[in-house]
Order: sequence, then C-alpha cells, then structure tokens
Amino acid sequence: MEKMVGKTKLSLVQGDITLQETEAIVNAANTTLLGGGGVDGAIHRAGGPKILEECKEIVAKQERCPTGEAVITTGGNMATKYVIHTVGPVWSGGNRNEDRLLRNAYYNSLNVAKENGIKSISFPSISTGVYRFPKERAVKIALTTVKEFVQEYNFEEVRFVLFSENDMRIYENELKD
Ligand code: APR
Repeated sequence: MEKMVGKTKLSLVQGDITLQETEAIVNAANTTLLGGGGVDGAIHRAGGPKILEECKEIVAKQERCPTGEAVITTGGNMATKYVIHTVGPVWSGGNRNEDRLLRNAYYNSLNVAKENGIKSISFPSISTGVYRFPKERAVKIALTTVKEFVQEYNFEEVRFVLFSENDMRIYENELKD
C-alpha cells in the first residue's frame, strides 16, 4: 500500500527489513547498542560484524544511546547503505512518557537520515515487540511523526516494513484514515 504525503511516498511492506533496498534501514536497538533479539538480532546477523564494530566505536565515545535518540552506522553486508539505530521506550503503562519517547525515536531517526542526505528509509514497528508498546497506539505515533517531518524535508520514500500480517493490517487501517 502506498500514499503520497507532499512529495514523499509513504509505503507499507510486509517482509524482512534486512532485505530492503532503501538507502537506510532503522534498527529497534537497546541503549547498549550491542545487539539483541528481534529486529536488532536480524540486522546484526544480516549486516555482519562491521555494524557491531561501529556500534562499539559509538559506545566508546558516548557510552550508550539514550531512549529516543538515534545513531548511524554502515549497513555492512546488507543491500541498504546505512543502519540508523534508535531505541524505543519499554511500555510500562503509558505514564512514563512512552508516547513522547517513541515519537522522539521516529523523529530523531528521520533527522539523522536528513543530516546524512539520505532520501529513502525503512522503519520496523519500533517498541511493539519485546518492549510491548501497544501496536495500535504505536502506529498512530509512527505515522503522525513521519507526516509532520516530511512537511519540512522531502524524502523520496519512507517505508514501514511489517513482519506479520497482523501488523500490516493495523498499519493499513491507520494509513487509510
Ligand atoms: N524485519 C522487520 N521487522 C521485524 C523483524 C525483521 N527481520 N524481526 C522482528 N521484527 C518486528 C517485530 O515483529 C516487531 O513488530 O520488529 C518489531 C519490533 O520488535 P523487537 O525487535 O522486539 O523490538 P522492540 O520491541 O523495539 O524491542 C527492542 O529487543 O531485540 C531487542 O536489542 C533489542 O533490547 C531491544 C529490544
């Protein structure tokens, strides 16, 4: 499914983010940047050790990646050129600024892409796996943040890569509105 927002194409794809050929893909990392399970594990496996090497260089400089912030590394062996690692909030009921932190994760990932002149980017559904952020709530934040950002900066494409059919349906319903 695709929709134009200004000059930017928003697209929904069901599949594996490690196979996407956008210039950058976003990783749902943790604050240590040293890898994990879920999409973090998939990206490190597919991209190879170069990604972890660059993550360690970043950690050596700034200790960790605070929730809501984003950093950039090579895409390693994957088709994509860059991985933008961001850290979404762990869901703990909704009164710990989770909505704001999830928005920041999307916003700062887009901003790192803009600062690097990147014109196409793929997002996973940040925080909705291990971090248990409610999906319907997360998709609203994701789409709203992207729509706001592309008013100021034209990407060619912002792609949401959903791993399951259920997630795809949730995004489709939201994008239709
Ligand atoms: N491609 C696209 N999406 C994927 C892939 C993949 N290869 N693998 C998993 N996903 C989806 C999940 O189905 C979920 O919808 O990514 C979404 C985010 O789930 P998680 O990977 O669990 O990320 P998150 O909920 O943000 O938790 C982050 O998990 O892996 C650890 O190190 C990571 O501590 C961090 C935490």
